[in-house]
Amino acid sequence: MFSQELITRLKKARSVVVLTGAGISAESGIPTFRGQEGLWKKYRAEELANVEAFHQNPHLVWEWYEYRRSIIQSKAPNPAHFALAHMEQYYTDFVVITQNVDGFHRAAGNRKVLEIHGNILRSRCVECHKIYNSKPYIMKDHLPQCECGGLLRPDVVWFGEALSEDLLKQSYQAAQSCEVFFSIGTSSIVQPAASFPVVAKNHGAYLVEINVETTPLSSIADEVLLGKVGEILPELVEKAELLDK
Ligand code: OAD
Repeated sequence: MFSQELITRLKKARSVVVLTGAGISAESGIPTFRGQEGLWKKYRAEELANVEAFHQNPHLVWEWYEYRRSIIQSKAPNPAHFALAHMEQYYTDFVVITQNVDGFHRAAGNRKVLEIHGNILRSRCVECHKIYNSKPYIMKDHLPQCECGGLLRPDVVWFGEALSEDLLKQSYQAAQSCEVFFSIGTSSIVQPAASFPVVAKNHGAYLVEINVETTPLSSIADEVLLGKVGEILPELVEKAELLDK
């Protein structure tokens, strides 16, 4: 299934970057955003994950986030996450850029993780920007409130909002300087994340995609590994003997 080219490059590389999307957590039991199972009640993610929706109906948006938090808190990282944690041990330079907000990469043991869309378990005050890592916070009219009296929101990036400049800079730097870039379990349509693999490829990285289906990225990837990432990644780590150096 894996080309000799990929195995050789992985063995020789010092710097590897991985971009992950909802597909890597799908095998942990976390629904992806798109596709039929991505729907919550009758809503699409784009209809709820934006500031306007929050201002119009904070109860509905919080209900959705509490629902997603409860799913995440009842699940755990899967073999794909652990395979990436093994890979981090092997390389001098190994960065995970994730669009996921579930915190599973850190939970699996990865240390260099850029959570470009935030973290769903954190909340942030819309007034004073104080971060709350966990409950308890004050509830008022069934909505979480900051000690300053401001409304709390999930500490995630919503559609139409800018990503952290610092995280973006780190992501582009990592993409530009790596030798192998993996795009894993993402539909490759949400920007700017979808541009990282393209930047990596343009700077000479060997681009590998892992997904159960092809995406807009597939045509420029050097290698497309079609299948479940929870099966493919652990096998790749074993085949390329990436367990220790
Ligand atoms: P999507 O739901 O758009 O795409 C999930 C991808 O994972 C699809 O391409 C699936 O084919 C693939 N997939 C599913 N199961 C898989 C498996 N077991 N192994 C490998 N691949 C699998 O999720 P994202 O691309 O992460 O943003 O979505 C990007 C962003 O859009 C999210 O971070 C979120 C969303 O709206 C914000 O909330 C800002």
